[in-house]
Amino acid sequence: MYKISVLPGDGVGPEVINEGKKVLESVGDALNIKFKWEYHPYGAEHYLDTGEVLPISALNKMEKTDAIYLGAVGDPRVKPGVLEKELLLNLRFYFDQYINLRPIKLYPGVKCPLRDKGHEHVNFYVVRENTEDFYVGVGGRFSGRNHKNTIEIERCHYKTKFKIDSQKKGKGDIAYQIGVISEEGSRRVIDYAFKLAINKGMNRITSVDKANVLTNVYSLWREVFADVSKSYPGIETEYAFVDAITMWFIKNPEWYRVVVTPNMFGDIITDLGAMIQGGMGLAPGGNINPEGVSMFEPIHGSAPKYKDKGIANPLATILAGQMMLENLGEEKAAGLIEQAVIDVLMEDKIRTKDLGGNSNTTEMGDAVVNKLTKIV
Ligand code: IPM
Ligand code: MN
Repeated sequence: MYKISVLPGDGVGPEVINEGKKVLESVGDALNIKFKWEYHPYGAEHYLDTGEVLPISALNKMEKTDAIYLGAVGDPRVKPGVLEKELLLNLRFYFDQYINLRPIKLYPGVKCPLRDKGHEHVNFYVVRENTEDFYVGVGGRFSGRNHKNTIEIERCHYKTKFKIDSQKKGKGDIAYQIGVISEEGSRRVIDYAFKLAINKGMNRITSVDKANVLTNVYSLWREVFADVSKSYPGIETEYAFVDAITMWFIKNPEWYRVVVTPNMFGDIITDLGAMIQGGMGLAPGGNINPEGVSMFEPIHGSAPKYKDKGIANPLATILAGQMMLENLGEEKAAGLIEQAVIDVLMEDKIRTKDLGGNSNTTEMGDAVVNKLTKIV
């Protein structure tokens, strides 16, 4: 029996989570895996009603569960940054989910936007560092108009503020944000990437950086990568600059097996990855702490304009459920969910709007459950 914290969140989040939960329960019924769902109301609505984003008491409750299943957060009525930082990033940081694992896989029956590339060409993982880099929130702003300037360091619930005096009056503000890479922080995620490669029988790892310009942070990342790779002599390694890899993802996606990347570049290249696997409706992600509580989510946002329309594709969330089971050690159940999704896609009958059809969110979830009951 698994206790799962569920955060449906905003926009299409609740709709896609419903379908994901339905599929997990269906595979659970067949394989005798029980789930206990603990719902959390956090998101835009709750924030607008109460002013509360994510209380520490909720984090304490989630700490006692086996995993977190997240829909999506974000709402145009809330100032950008509030929910993203205080809810989503806070969850990732609080549970130290230092790996952001994002599979890029074009399923059979899904058209690749790249002409001439089929499902045999797109199947790799992006392992994104999930706690450092430009996401640490170290930065500040010097204002000519204002003598009271602050440098803010903010991570998790701990906020430290330093007051500094501005050097000069006048206009012309200066803002800066600092990326932080640590040896330990890089080592643990790079090591995970090598282990994942071995686990999945993939024999090449690509390390992404921009060490030709941002020399301080990314040379350290590179050194750690080189050092870790010594422990895995059977795996081929290579470096790619982030700008070049966006080009190669399009030109030769079949080259890639496991791609390991610092946080911000990982954010950018996985949106590109989602497109080459057929769109955001098909892209799941795992925020993983191998020793702690991990969190699984579709990588799409809350899509407020599609809220309550029943048209969102729940497959990304269903596949996030598959990743959750795989991480809980339920390989068989996870494999069945993926097979059911493939069967639905190959049959080409039920298609949500993003896949060129008219089926709604529930019909897609039902179709997966249907296929599941046929193969268990
Ligand atoms: C993602 C999102 C988040 C990120 C935002 C919403 C904080 O874009 O999960 O990729 O930048 O990591
Ligand atoms: Mn993103």
